[in-house]
Amino acid sequence: MTFSIDRVRADFPVLTREVHGQPLVYLDSAASAQKPNAVIDAEAEFYRHGYAAVHRGIHTLSAEATARMEQVRQQASAFLHARSAEEMVFVRGTTEGINLVANSWGTRNVGKGDNIIISQMEHHANIVPWQMLCTRTGAELRVIPLNPDGTLQHDKVPGLFDSNTRLLAITQVSNVLGTENPVKALAALAHQHGAKVLVDGAQAVMHHAVDVQDLDCDFYVFSAHKLYGPTGIGVLYVKEAILQDMPPWEGGGSMIATVSLTEGTTWAKAPWRFEAGTPNTGGIIALGAALDYIASLGLDQIAEYEQTLMHYALAELATVPDLTLYGPEKRLGVVAFNLGKHHAYDVGSFLDNYGIAVRTGHHCAMPLMAFYQVPAMCRASLAMYNTTEEVDRLVAGLKRIHRLLG
Ligand SMILES: Cc1ncc(COP(=O)(O)O)c(C=O)c1O
Repeated sequence: MTFSIDRVRADFPVLTREVHGQPLVYLDSAASAQKPNAVIDAEAEFYRHGYAAVHRGIHTLSAEATARMEQVRQQASAFLHARSAEEMVFVRGTTEGINLVANSWGTRNVGKGDNIIISQMEHHANIVPWQMLCTRTGAELRVIPLNPDGTLQHDKVPGLFDSNTRLLAITQVSNVLGTENPVKALAALAHQHGAKVLVDGAQAVMHHAVDVQDLDCDFYVFSAHKLYGPTGIGVLYVKEAILQDMPPWEGGGSMIATVSLTEGTTWAKAPWRFEAGTPNTGGIIALGAALDYIASLGLDQIAEYEQTLMHYALAELATVPDLTLYGPEKRLGVVAFNLGKHHAYDVGSFLDNYGIAVRTGHHCAMPLMAFYQVPAMCRASLAMYNTTEEVDRLVAGLKRIHRLLG
């Protein structure tokens, strides 16, 4: 099937709206992507005609909702090429998935004298939970440094590992730079040292296919809302042997086998042991619709379209005077920049006035801002529904701001 940009755009109702009297140019999908009708309708349809609490119900609606939820677990497993649906834990998003690993696996497996390795390009979601774990346990946090072009200093990586390294936690794609890290090679290196590997896939899953068995990572996590799905739901993959051995981190309903006031509590098996309380079933069902939608377009076709668009954007942005781009030549999904000495917020406000939505600020990556010695950057995301005309609007907008502000 060929990728038709007009057909894709027609699936996203918000793309027809205007902002400040101009057609919206939405370049903020790396923060959160817009939703196609298929996702919006699936969630509405569930609440209209199929809603019930899952798990404990004997009645038809409850049984149907439970079956649909478990079917999405299968879909998520196929999406990541995992071995089994029982390796998939539903979480609120990437942030919760990483906190789950830090609190459950981390508390059992990381202690004083151990170390955890991250990189300087991580999102705060893949820094702060490890800092908290290190503070709690007395472990050390080590950081892979960056080259000026926003790639990892690969020659420095082997020297960070030793026999006390318990975990490498690394992003597959940087949310600021678009750098794609060689996570398969890094996982092999980590495993040579007996360390486990967590991959933050929040900025990767929407741009190309992911195969967790091929990567051989131990943990992989992503959020549905960046994948054209709903907010409030995400998926944490954990290799089955590791998951079955992890203790629960939140207690409550649905995660237990038995509860006794005299004999204590026994746990449900994984993954349900990690899903305490009433789940976000509407979100899970809409995630299933997002996965179906992506599959109907084909991730390979999406990747090809996005690469061509990125190539075009980089060539056009190079014509804007005084524009500093951050990140490597080859990047996925995002372009971060600053215009002259102007604060990113000022540039972002001007662009908003022209109907162009970009993200401004530290992008939840303050250590990366410190590396580049800037307080903030603008970031334009290129998703599968963006066009060369929208890139032209961005470039024209930046040139206009440059003319106005100097
Ligand atoms: C690379 C990366 N990791 C983690 C997150 C956190 O995702 P969420 O806020 O959906 O939990 C983000 C979100 O921007 C991200 O880009």
